[in-house]
Amino acid sequence: MNVLVTGGAGFIGCNFVHLLLAERPDWRIVCLDALTYAGNLANLEAARDQANFRFVKGDICDAAVAGELMADIDAVVNFAAESHVDRSILGCQEFIRTNIQGTQVLLDAARRASVRRFVQVSTDEVYGSLGAEGRFTEQTPLAPNSPYSASKAAADMLVQAYHHTYGFATLITRCSNNYGPYQFPEKLIPLFVTNLLADKKVPVYGDGQNVRDWLHVSDHCRAVLCVLEQGPPGAVYNIGGNNERANIEITKKLIELLGKDESLMEFVPDRLGHDRRYAIDAGKIQRELGWEPRIDFAQGLKNTIQWYIDHEPWWQAIKSGDYRQYYQRQYGTAL
Ligand code: NAD
Ligand code: TYD
Repeated sequence: MNVLVTGGAGFIGCNFVHLLLAERPDWRIVCLDALTYAGNLANLEAARDQANFRFVKGDICDAAVAGELMADIDAVVNFAAESHVDRSILGCQEFIRTNIQGTQVLLDAARRASVRRFVQVSTDEVYGSLGAEGRFTEQTPLAPNSPYSASKAAADMLVQAYHHTYGFATLITRCSNNYGPYQFPEKLIPLFVTNLLADKKVPVYGDGQNVRDWLHVSDHCRAVLCVLEQGPPGAVYNIGGNNERANIEITKKLIELLGKDESLMEFVPDRLGHDRRYAIDAGKIQRELGWEPRIDFAQGLKNTIQWYIDHEPWWQAIKSGDYRQYYQRQYGTAL
């Protein structure tokens, strides 16, 4: 099996590459990544000397690159995206380009090369926001609220149109919030862990009562692999850990686990259009493909904190330069 993994130098993509190298050692993996601010070759250090792994620096919007790479490819797993809601609110041009146009370029290149399966890694955010009750199923209508989720929803619709129109074997996964090693420290958990490790304040948006359904990245990656290997063409699968937490609960837990003081918690103005609650019904992937989450949240969170403690040079290198400018722009304060 020859697999093209796009966005493999980012958080979830690199965890997926590591999973494949460990559990499918006879597969050949080509990783295409543009190395944007979120892409980091250090995330693939352990992969790069493996004979069955090849890294290509390139843009998924570049049809020539995509066409050339598809030659011997059996399956594509598209992780490449602009992925941060706050950045999409500051400006969403790159989100439209990579998330929508990039997906279209990959779909065309893959279809032309008769690639056998195309997995689009999407997000639960395409369903919009929930009130206090209910969970997203695969039948929930798409109702994205942020420029990020709107771009992901547009990509999902294109992917489904390629299945409907051309009979192309596409699959879509929609996962809830991930946490774990190699997550870029702009997202809630790694931002707060690394700020707390440096005795810096952690900015909680609004009243801190927004709820997310957290899943360890390795459970997400195993689910994507299940869908790649077993999902029927055209299918959509929700992925989630049945693990809803309010942001304030996570914040207090991180402060406690790191032995810091709650005075480091700072309530800041709310994110514009902030989705209140996400919760996933993952019954379909459990019933049809036998997937179950394996990592308990309490243990996963402790291991993740330990990973950031053990990899301080990794995140210190990121939290400099351009990152400081982003922080100033997003939070109105210097890091
Ligand atoms: P990330 O921001 O950490 O990584 C994205 C990667 O894509 C980076 O390596 C970047 O260099 C690469 N990339 C960006 N634009 C590119 C382009 N034009 N061409 C080639 N490569 C490009 O993102 P992530 O958190 O790992 O998310 C991966 C995927 O999973 C995304 O599609 C995202 O929408 C989805 N997702 C994320 C979460 C989450 O909690 N992080 C949850 C559900 C779904
Ligand atoms: P985030 O990690 O950006 O993921 P998403 O927006 O895709 O769910 O944010 C998770 C939650 O944490 C979300 O409700 C916004 C909140 N949040 C803060 O309160 N402060 C922050 O600095 C960040 C980045 C997020």
